[in-house]
Parts: sequence; structure tokens; C-alpha cells
Amino acid sequence: MSNQSAAITVSQLKKSYKKVNVLKDVSFTVPKGSIFALLGANGAGKTTTINILATLLKADGGTAVVDGNDVAKKPDNVRKRISLTGQFAAVDDILTGRENLELVSDLRHIKNPKQTVARLLAQFNLEEAADRRVQTYSGGMQRRLDIAMSLIGSPSIIFFDEPTTGLDPQSRNGMWQTIKSLANAGTTIFLTTQYLEEADQLADNVCILNKGVIVAEGTPAELKKLLPHGQIELKFQDHKQLLAAAALLKRYKPEQNNELLLLTANTNGTVAELTQLLSTLEKAGIEVTEFAQKSPTLDDVFFKVINETKEKK
Ligand SMILES: Nc1ncnc2c1ncn2[C@@H]1O[C@H](COP(=O)(O)OP(=O)(O)O)[C@@H](O)[C@H]1O
Ligand SMILES: [Mg+2]
Repeated sequence: MSNQSAAITVSQLKKSYKKVNVLKDVSFTVPKGSIFALLGANGAGKTTTINILATLLKADGGTAVVDGNDVAKKPDNVRKRISLTGQFAAVDDILTGRENLELVSDLRHIKNPKQTVARLLAQFNLEEAADRRVQTYSGGMQRRLDIAMSLIGSPSIIFFDEPTTGLDPQSRNGMWQTIKSLANAGTTIFLTTQYLEEADQLADNVCILNKGVIVAEGTPAELKKLLPHGQIELKFQDHKQLLAAAALLKRYKPEQNNELLLLTANTNGTVAELTQLLSTLEKAGIEVTEFAQKSPTLDDVFFKVINETKEKK
């Protein structure tokens, strides 16, 4: 499939390492300018996929076209258009942040190296630390430097292999902002993650890789629709009220948590049914002290599709 609006087209990709059959038949498309998340457990083959797309590794079968170029036939063209930020930062820690950036600028023969380096140091909040050795940087600072380095030369596609693994929550949020602003500026982002929340926060499209194949794909919202919705959680003052409510709400198949005084009811998700449920309780004089709507998370989808894949075996 050749597709003008696709940044990446992967078709029936296969890869084994000796006996380990990592990618059996992987196909997906990444639209230009979008954020795509390849989701999978540790060892699922995410890095293998990225390395094939970034021309670091050869596939055994299938095709991958990156920015109009087949990775197997035109690897040099692909390399000019992409950048890869690996699972482990590729910074040289004996050099300073500024020296790392200057080194990459030299390698990529860019026009205004000094200006570019200054702009990136500012953009990634590394101005103060610019002339310190990277050894003294925190993990979050090293990641930021790594990304700054990957932006030199304005690649049209950036690969991020597990960009937030090992980061503290604050650095993780900073990374999310960076990725979003890169995408807003028109860059296509391909990221891998084990965290569903990350895919949910960032991605326009998600593919779940499991046992060598894509087991689910769609927008985060589409994937969540695979799960039942309309579960609501009700909290009561005491056990007596909890029991009375459970009896009244039988037709919503309530699940009872005696310790937390919680009842989870399964509604069809409509306002009408919700209103009816609450008025049933009100008429009976039962007071709801807390109320929450439970929306399915991508985590639920992940575990559901992976369990279904297991059952099929
Ligand atoms: N060079 C290699 N030689 C042999 N096996 C490998 C090699 N690289 C990765 N693997 C195996 O392939 C599987 C997928 O690895 P990887 O792509 O790194 O997964 P992920 O990035 O999703 O954690 C794992 O079982 C891993 O042990
Ligand atoms: Mg990996």
C-alpha cells in the first residue's frame, strides 16, 4: 500500500532472532503529523520494530516504508529524515550538554550550529547546566538533552523508544509536553510504551503488539469502546443503607464492597437510566454520600485483548 498521507507504512513485517520468533506478521500505518503509540509488554518486540524502521536492523520479511522510502532499499534516505531517541539516553557524559549538541550539529552539517544549540538549550531548560558535564545531570535532564540532540536537523519523523521509562512523574509530564509540542509543529511521532496511560495521554492512534502480531488498533477512544461502559460507583453512610440499596438496585447487577461501603452498578450509560437509578434510591430515603462514574481505561482494554489472545491459543 503506498499512501501519500502516510508517514510510515508497515506491511507483514517479520523478524526472528535465532529461535525467538519476535515479529510474526505486523502491519500498521502511521498518518503524517500524528502521534502513534506501539503498546506492548516487556519483550513484545517494540524495540525490534523501531530498530527495523530506523534501519538499524533488517527484517526477515514484509516491507516498511518510512517517509516514502523503503527501509530495505533506501536506508540512507530514511536516515536523513528520521531521528531515534532510544530507550537509553545516547548522550556522552564526559562532555557538557553544549558540547553534546555541538557534536551532533557538526555531524549533521547544519547551517547555524551556534544559534541552533542556544535555541535548543533554552527550549529544553538546560541553559544553566549547559557547560556542566552530563555526568552531573539528573535522569530527566539527560533525557531532555537526548531529545534536544535528536531534533537537530529538523527530522520529519521522530522515534521515541519508551521515552518515559525510569523518569519521575514531573520529568514524565515534561516529556509528554515536549512530544505534544513536536507533534503540533507537524512532526510525526512514533513512540513505544508499556504504559497505557501514556498512550492514552499522547497518541492519536494505538496498536497493541502481543505475541508477534497486532492484537488491537484504533484511537484510544475506540479501544476503550471495546469494553463495557456505564459502570457507576455509589458510596453509602453505613452497611444497612448499602444492603438496602443493593436490594433495590438488583436489576443493575450490583457488586458490593462491604468494607468500603461501595456499590458498583452496571447501567447502560444513558442519563435516563442514571436518573432513574438515583431517584429509586431517593424515594426509598437512601442517601448516596459519594458518586462516581467509572470509565474504562486503556489498561482494561490491554488486559482484555491480551487475555483473549491467550484463550485462543
Ligand atoms: N539481539 C537479540 N538476540 C536475541 N534475542 C533478542 C535480541 N534482541 C531482542 N531479543 C528478544 O526479542 C524479544 C523482543 O525484544 P524487544 O524488541 O527488545 O522487546 P521490547 O522492546 O518490546 O521489550 C525479546 O524476547 C528479546 O529477548
Ligand atoms: Mg524495548
